[in-house]
Amino acid sequence: MRKPLIAGNWKMNGTKDGITDLVTILVAGEVNNVDMLVIPPFVYLEQVGRELGESGIRLGAQNVDWRAQGALTGEIEASMLKEVGCELCLTGHSERRQLFAETDDQVACKFKACLEHDVTPILCVGETLQQRQAGQTMEVVLRQVRSVMEAVGPAGIGQGIVAYEPVWAIGTGESASPEQAEEVHGNIRQAIARDGPATAEKLRILYGGSVNSENAAELFRMEDIDGALVGGASLIGKEFLTICELAARGMEN
Ligand code: 13P
Repeated sequence: MRKPLIAGNWKMNGTKDGITDLVTILVAGEVNNVDMLVIPPFVYLEQVGRELGESGIRLGAQNVDWRAQGALTGEIEASMLKEVGCELCLTGHSERRQLFAETDDQVACKFKACLEHDVTPILCVGETLQQRQAGQTMEVVLRQVRSVMEAVGPAGIGQGIVAYEPVWAIGTGESASPEQAEEVHGNIRQAIARDGPATAEKLRILYGGSVNSENAAELFRMEDIDGALVGGASLIGKEFLTICELAARGMEN
């Protein structure tokens, strides 16, 4: 049985005070039997780490550079993330791929750099609406997964986490249906199983894209959905906690 992970990607949102309020709510309402993760903007990482204190809620980063530290203005190395208490890091979020032109190769380098510095990478994959309508969903998603697998092998991918986030469902209020998500999650697991069956069985595959307290339960009922990567709804403490509770309850069924 894979323990669910609920991750809140705060993207470029927040103020010092607003974040203190949000973390206070999350710490007070921490949910058992589920891994909880918050992913603030870089500049708030230390603050959030401090405020999470002794709670079991984990800290993650939104991005990383793969190169060794040096003359790379504006970039952050995985060892730096580790030093400020980050245990996990997103790689290849669709906003990075689309707005900052990140390539599959760069994402694979980021994933590998995280592993080398003992930071757990979360590989984000997903198709655009145009690609889905053209029947290219699996081709796109599996290409994104394979590119990382070629760089780190099936065992390497097993040290990370995968998040399926269809681009058309991000921030639109229109989540993929549980069946649509399950189809992709199942295919990702199968593709990895061909090279690493044990890895595929243990790998957590999260769903992301307009997850909220209304649609989370039905998504979590699906066999291959092991949690969620939540954007907008993770900025509302009570809403995020409800999603965590639904995931924990899903484990009992
Ligand atoms: P929304 O939950 O706001 O759709 O964002 C999803 C996402 O991109 C999480 O990484």
